[in-house]
Amino acid sequence: MTSLSPLKVVLASRNAGKLREFSELLPEMHFVLWPPHAPDLPETGAFFQDNALQKAEGARAWWLDHGGSLVDGVLADDSGLCVDALWGGPGVLSARFAADLPTYRDRNHHLLAMLPEGADRAARFVCVLAFAPMPGRWQGEPFIVSGAVEGSLAFDHRGEHGFGYDPIFIPDGYDQTFGELPSDIKHTLSHRARACAALRIRLLAGRD
Ligand code: IMP
Repeated sequence: MTSLSPLKVVLASRNAGKLREFSELLPEMHFVLWPPHAPDLPETGAFFQDNALQKAEGARAWWLDHGGSLVDGVLADDSGLCVDALWGGPGVLSARFAADLPTYRDRNHHLLAMLPEGADRAARFVCVLAFAPMPGRWQGEPFIVSGAVEGSLAFDHRGEHGFGYDPIFIPDGYDQTFGELPSDIKHTLSHRARACAALRIRLLAGRD
């Protein structure tokens, strides 16, 4: 496949787990981190799509106002875990769910304890990416792409790979959680990997 290199992109996130995954999934992109002195990016929408666009456009406006270095665009991710038995929750609230608990191990146990005995354990990870091109550097309007992976909830927190809810999510076709599976397996089937594949296709098409 034709390379996207050398594309320089601001990643509108401070989530270390996401940064690691984007660097592995899109190795031909050079990511510029969202600076520590920059404001937190609001996510007030009801849908992943709204939040991803809000973050990408907000970050692009801040970058332009503050004379950030020359980049081709801004990438924002809004993602989360949607559990059928919790009416799709925590969904867009995944980052804020049980945020008073100190660790993801605690939050994962808390989430599992919310499921009544015998409940349907079906769940999916969803990822929406928004790319906002920098004027003069890349053609076109901001756009979104998305990816999802179906699976089910484990009965306990298992494994230490990945981040967030990975240790309680078993992708369909596997017995291990994303916390137990090596990252190269997660990267063949995850919501973020699928969204990144769609992003690469869109960006390559835009470059022609
Ligand atoms: P946001 O997109 O910044 O609102 O946060 C997404 C939240 O969803 C993260 O903080 C994690 O809790 C969760 N999440 C998203 N993607 C993943 C993943 O690949 N593994 C585990 N948890 C995830």
